[in-house]
Amino acid sequence: MLLEDADIGKTLLSKLNCPQCGNANTFTDARKFNLMFKTFIGPVEDSSAVVYLRPETAQGIFVNFLNVQGSARQKIPFGIAQIGKAFRNEINTKNFLFITREFEQMEMQFFVNPKDDKKWYDYWKTERLNWFVSLGMRKEKLRYHDHHPTKLAHYAKEATDIEYEFPFGWGEIEGVHNRTNFDLSRHEEYSGKSLKYFDEESKEKFVPFIIETSAGASRSFMAFLVDSLYEEEVKGEQRTVLRLHPKLAPIKVGIFPLVNKDGMPEIARNIEADLRKHLKVFYDDKGAVGRRYRRQDEAGTPYCVTIDTETLQNQTVTVRDRDSMEQIRVSNDKLKEYFVQKILTAQD
Ligand code: GAP
Repeated sequence: MLLEDADIGKTLLSKLNCPQCGNANTFTDARKFNLMFKTFIGPVEDSSAVVYLRPETAQGIFVNFLNVQGSARQKIPFGIAQIGKAFRNEINTKNFLFITREFEQMEMQFFVNPKDDKKWYDYWKTERLNWFVSLGMRKEKLRYHDHHPTKLAHYAKEATDIEYEFPFGWGEIEGVHNRTNFDLSRHEEYSGKSLKYFDEESKEKFVPFIIETSAGASRSFMAFLVDSLYEEEVKGEQRTVLRLHPKLAPIKVGIFPLVNKDGMPEIARNIEADLRKHLKVFYDDKGAVGRRYRRQDEAGTPYCVTIDTETLQNQTVTVRDRDSMEQIRVSNDKLKEYFVQKILTAQD
């Protein structure tokens, strides 16, 4: 006799003792749990209006695969990437942005000829870990966790998690999956519309395999924050510094007049107006200049410009580097080239 899910749950639970009090039969009956958020579209709340918030951005890409391929005149292999909200009815939210019920994903579905799936899976596995390193994440804090063949998701032929070592332990920040042709085939099956690709050169017609790179934007953001936060002592004082890669830093340059007189604010405002056209900058004229540096260190700003007495004499300013705290002088009229060059060529 086949048991219903609920009966199986009941039977199993009746055999377990509570790990805290040791008593038997203390559990409630097993209940169904839906990881997707269910709601209704339109004014009528009946079964025909039921919809689910997307738990991944991927599916919209699959149904639009042939539209994008045709309109963008793409040949396989090519990828479609998207960033957007995803929603999961997680049992527990925890560790700040690590598990939330509403989060941001950035996914790419890369369409390949089935016979090349292994090559592209290996390629994206390497590329994606290197992407985090290229934006300054420490390599020793990253690792792969390859899924055992018996633990793969129903759609996957091969899968790995890129993990980061958070203060609370190793956790996945991105998944790379060989999703085979599972998704496109299922969309074909249920919509009745072909999602086959015709290869002009080989004259083959096939449903492409998909290599998926699926990163949590919010979770990765937290990993970047954790990885770049340092507290150190400088000349007997505590310094908090966010060593964000210049490409990630929300403010690229802080601009300070040393004092609010002698024409320094006017020069500083001119420099601000000029740089703002090209970079995110922040003007600060409040408090001692040392404190202003510290505030920008905490915000992760890689460079600060101070307009000082020497500026009035020779039209150069002090440029201070967040990480080394070294100061050099740069001509007012060379600042834009200097920063654009520094930020574009910044290495990890
Ligand atoms: N399309 C495949 C997919 O969604 P996943 O491993 O379930 O794969 C991909 O999710 C990424 O999304 C994870 O590596 C993680 O960074 C992020 N993510 C998943 N659930 C999350 C949650 N509840 N809160 C924050 N980020 C989450």
